Amino acid sequence: MGDPLRTNDVAQLDGSPRRRFYSGPSLHRAAAIADLRAMAHRRMPRFVLEYLEGGAEDEAGLARDRLAYADWRFAPRQLVDVSGRTLEADLLGRSARLPLVIAPTGLNGIFRHGGDLMLAQAAAEAGIPFVQSTMSNERMEDLARIDGLRHWFQLYVFGADEVWQELLRRADACGCETLVLTTNAQIFGNREWSKRTRASRTRPSASTVLDAALHPRWMASTLLAGRGLPVFRNVLDFIPREHRGFFESAHWIREHQPSSLDWADLDRIRRRWSKPLLLKGILHPDDLRRAVDAGVDGVVLSSHGGRQLDWTIAPLDLLPQAREIVGDRLALHVAGGLRRGTDLLKALALGATAVWAGRAPLYGLCAGGTQGVRRALDILHKEALDAMGLLGAASLADLSDGSLLQRMR
Ligand SMILES: Cc1cc2nc3c(=O)[nH]c(=O)nc-3n(C[C@H](O)[C@H](O)[C@H](O)COP(=O)(O)O)c2cc1C
Repeated sequence: MGDPLRTNDVAQLDGSPRRRFYSGPSLHRAAAIADLRAMAHRRMPRFVLEYLEGGAEDEAGLARDRLAYADWRFAPRQLVDVSGRTLEADLLGRSARLPLVIAPTGLNGIFRHGGDLMLAQAAAEAGIPFVQSTMSNERMEDLARIDGLRHWFQLYVFGADEVWQELLRRADACGCETLVLTTNAQIFGNREWSKRTRASRTRPSASTVLDAALHPRWMASTLLAGRGLPVFRNVLDFIPREHRGFFESAHWIREHQPSSLDWADLDRIRRRWSKPLLLKGILHPDDLRRAVDAGVDGVVLSSHGGRQLDWTIAPLDLLPQAREIVGDRLALHVAGGLRRGTDLLKALALGATAVWAGRAPLYGLCAGGTQGVRRALDILHKEALDAMGLLGAASLADLSDGSLLQRMR
């Protein structure tokens, strides 16, 4: 599927001048996240791209995450002194250079050996939080050593209670400042494209092996650098020895995620974790009300990047109503579809406290490791700051002035 938000066809006459994204080797020539994405597509084998890009079933939720942004247009103000504008924001009691968070994504080692370390390093330098997934390929204790990192930990509940209790204990001990409980992935989403590129539970298909061999840069930076496929190091100790192979361990964890997870479990988790706690995966107004009563510090509106239940509304669709419901009682974060600085501004204008980016920094990671993630974050920051000025917003408070955005439907 092409990018559903590409709207620049109007600038061409019968396809001329031909427009193309940059996909060469030099990161500083990437002008937009779309260029980093094109670079990633050139470098990654197909099964990695299916994992990165794919959504569930018909991918209608995935598309909606992006299209929801297109429903909103700016009505900019003029002759406003915007010379002192800043995107600096308070995120859960600490200042961030911009209200952007690197979302938790599992299996980052498949994009590049040490992927989590690279994402976390770039986040620390950019002054924004990084959320480490339960399905990370690094131990959280190793990430915690990164200087200046705002380290948040995302929990998937699996196995016996002792597992999440031990993960919480470790997260607290190594200095994670926030716990994120993902609520919408206890049953694994039906990602058919990803399934089609693999042969069995234990082995890749012959065509996948061949395709991988045809991508030498990926082979070198992932397989050779890591001496084989990545391992779910963060949780390996909880997986029985005979199931620790790459493909098998992921299956084993999925099969041990209880679909009984409910608000009573959240209550037990809340009582064990005294630092900030966010619920990730909320898309219904009644769940927002329950979240307020449950004593969490915030929610992340999210469809899991369109990878779990298909045909959901987008986080942005619920955002204005969500802000009305929670008022200033909860931090209101949104995740899904962010590819531009203007996307960030739209979400902030509609009431978001912060926006989480999943695929955008991953495109940077695939394109060029730590430098690539830095490039992705720089692009987003600069785009957002420039657009904020063009919009005539001198501060984040100005952004939330309802008159700057108009709904087009
Ligand atoms: C490759 C990939 C892996 C993901 N893994 C996780 C995960 O382990 N835990 C989680 O809570 N969300 C996971 N997500 C969802 C992201 O945290 C986030 O909600 C989503 O990517 C946001 O949409 P975006 O990619 O359009 O920014 C994953 C998303 C992707 C693309």
